[in-house]
Amino acid sequence: MTLDMVDIIRTKRDGGELDGTAIDWALDAYTRGQVGEEQMAALAMAIFLRGMNRREIADWTGAMIRSGRTMDWSELGKPTTDKHSTGGVGDKITLPLGPLVASFGVAVPQLSGRGLGHTGGTLDKLESIPGWYAELSPARMREILRDTGAVVAAAGEDLAPADRKLYALRDVTGTVDSIPLIASSIMSKKIAEGTQALVLDVKVGTGAFMTDLDSARELARTMVDLGTDAGVRTRALLTDMSTPLGRTIGNALEVRESVEVLAGGGPADVIELTCVLAREMLALAGMHDVDVEEALADGRAMDTWRDMIRAQDGDPDAPLPTAVHTEDVTAVRDGHLRGLDALALGVGSWRLGAGRARKEDPVQAAAGVEIHVLPGERVVRGQKLLTLHTDTPERFGRARAVIETGVTIGDEPPAPRTLIHDRIG
Ligand code: URA
Repeated sequence: MTLDMVDIIRTKRDGGELDGTAIDWALDAYTRGQVGEEQMAALAMAIFLRGMNRREIADWTGAMIRSGRTMDWSELGKPTTDKHSTGGVGDKITLPLGPLVASFGVAVPQLSGRGLGHTGGTLDKLESIPGWYAELSPARMREILRDTGAVVAAAGEDLAPADRKLYALRDVTGTVDSIPLIASSIMSKKIAEGTQALVLDVKVGTGAFMTDLDSARELARTMVDLGTDAGVRTRALLTDMSTPLGRTIGNALEVRESVEVLAGGGPADVIELTCVLAREMLALAGMHDVDVEEALADGRAMDTWRDMIRAQDGDPDAPLPTAVHTEDVTAVRDGHLRGLDALALGVGSWRLGAGRARKEDPVQAAAGVEIHVLPGERVVRGQKLLTLHTDTPERFGRARAVIETGVTIGDEPPAPRTLIHDRIG
């Protein structure tokens, strides 16, 4: 059947509802190149401005899933569970979390992407480990899931190709931050990935897509409904992204910190979030009352990490790359460190070379920011607060300019941080 894209755009532009047939047709024709970028850009903007109801979002998500292949892990004989974060600064939680959950005999099939903008991508982080590679066939993923339990691989071109094309278009047409479009984009990939259960870590704060709790709650509710309607046991946590997670931002720096957590150490917020998310993932896989802290302390999660890295040709014992140049940021006065703004530090780390502006840009494995003092601690003038790392020292100026706007020192300590705001589903 041939429908008319102009009619579909007009319907949404005027606040109407799109039926399933129109949505299927538009996304299929767009994926096959029969609807042009300019028409899809107009439809994306109409959706951005007018929104979509629950049925339309489910139909949109279903059409994106059907645009490509879907994966199925049912013959593994183990429960499968995954986590997805909407993206944050210093968010390395996937690295310790996958092996931790897998050490309980649950399979964690993670398909992931490379970072764009100020939040880093999991693949970029893991690629800082010498030898490690992300491009795996489904057959190899299955072997690793069977033998090790945890795998992180690049999502293939054929997983929700409609989303791949549309996300690139949204990126250049100011239509990324729309709840129906974000929810359908994330959930189409996660449902196509074939996991039975999914925990969503929806970030809230300056370093996240959603800067206020109400919008984060709406995004979380929309994604939980989409997952549940598609038969995936789905739950969401709303977690803080006003301050970076942990004490490192940047690819190799974040791997180093993740290994500290797997060795039973590491920063309190990274440990807490890893353990909370692990308990949620295991509960959705039918395992309640498990001692995840013990699996970090006794080395079980570390053993699974080492197996997981080796399975993808990485050397878990090889030294991680270190930056050629470093510079410190110091306290300008005595007082309490009141804030380290996630967006400022994320953009700064990106300017140091840890992130990319276009998807074909390279990233520096060793670039990033190391945090020596956390909000709430007392500081004295001249004390070292941060260390900036890069291989290209001409980047220091622009990175420092934005990072310094994110460092606040005052007379009083800040209110204590709430790491986990809410739980949905
Ligand atoms: N991540 C995605 O995969 N899609 C979005 O739309 C936003 C974040």
